[in-house]
Amino acid sequence: MRLLITGGAGFIGSNFVRYILKKYPDYQVMVLDALTYAGNRDNFEENIWQNPKFSFYHGNICDKEVVDSLMRDTDTVVHFAAETHVDRSILEAGTFIQTDVYGTYVLLEAARKYKVKRFVHISTDEVYGEAKSPTGENRPSLETDPLMPKSPYAASKAGADRLAFSYYTTYQLPVVISRCSNNYGPNQYPEKLIPLFITNALENEPLPVYGSGKNTRDWIHVLDHCAALDILLHSEGQDGEAFNIGGGQEFNILQISKTILKMLEKNESALQFVLDRPGHVMRHAVDTSKIKNVFGWQPKIDFDEGIKQTVDWYIKNESWWQKIKGKSIEYQEFTKKWYEERN
Ligand code: NAD
Ligand code: DAU
Repeated sequence: MRLLITGGAGFIGSNFVRYILKKYPDYQVMVLDALTYAGNRDNFEENIWQNPKFSFYHGNICDKEVVDSLMRDTDTVVHFAAETHVDRSILEAGTFIQTDVYGTYVLLEAARKYKVKRFVHISTDEVYGEAKSPTGENRPSLETDPLMPKSPYAASKAGADRLAFSYYTTYQLPVVISRCSNNYGPNQYPEKLIPLFITNALENEPLPVYGSGKNTRDWIHVLDHCAALDILLHSEGQDGEAFNIGGGQEFNILQISKTILKMLEKNESALQFVLDRPGHVMRHAVDTSKIKNVFGWQPKIDFDEGIKQTVDWYIKNESWWQKIKGKSIEYQEFTKKWYEERN
């Protein structure tokens, strides 16, 4: 298989690259990544750079020439590349629309032209908005629920999700769409809740809890997500279908924060309640019956074990996150602006 992985230098993408190279040593893996603030060459260990089956192309998915030249040598695409942070999308939506929607269009067009055999589009459970039935009943989202995204990030992803679907219905491009819940694990940029709170706690900095901290998310270890994507990548039929993926482990922000503080033997006085995120989704949760019934997929990593491993990873890899967090002027400017707008 000749795989093109977009956004492969980010959090989930780099875990997926590692997973694929280990499980399928014969596959040719090509990464296309623009190396935005979230993309990081350090996410690939030396053995990956040395692997003759791995190649890296520094470029933008919105660049038609680049995408065309890579798609020519590809039979399968796994499309992770996106702007991904909800808070950033509230401050500046333009790059989200550009990358997440237009970039997806560029890839779909090239995939159609070169007749790729499988296009795995990585969408998100954020496309549903609040986890509710159409009549307002509080329950996990189903694939058939209306898409009611609440942030510019989620709306861009919803646009890309349906654009991918339209390339199946209109041009029969063999697209399959994943809608996963909140991932955690190694190599996650320290702006998302779990890595931000672990690294802040390690540096004895406050943990900024938005609003009441009662908002819940369904947490999944990144390797369970990778295993589900592996199944979708190798699936036959199911073209145009969307599949929810989730860990089935719901916790609110206060529970997560207290777990992290306890593990690091830090005091709960580190919790700092700040103004709520505008458009904050109270509950994201997905019903994963479809992927379980069709493919027999199950998440394997229990949250207690997964969070312990993740905290250990951030303790052992301080140089990885210090390089991109503490010393990043761009990150400091972003958080300063965010706090100013929130308080
Ligand atoms: P991330 O922000 O860690 O990584 C995104 C990657 O995309 C980076 O390497 C970045 O450099 C690259 N990128 C951004 N713009 C690009 C462009 N124009 N051209 C090429 N590369 C570009 O994100 P992540 O958390 O790993 O998420 C990956 C995908 O999974 C995204 O599509 C996201 O919407 C989706 N997703 C994430 C989660 C989660 O909890 N993190 C859950 C469900 C779905
Ligand atoms: O559901 C999948 C989505 O999960 C992905 O599509 C997104 O790319 C990913 O960023 C994530 O979105 P969230 O908004 O759920 O993740 P985030 O880590 O930003 O926030 C998780 C929860 O924690 C949310 O309720 C807001 C809260 N939070 C977050 C931060 C960064 C805080 O209370 N304080 C914070 O500083």
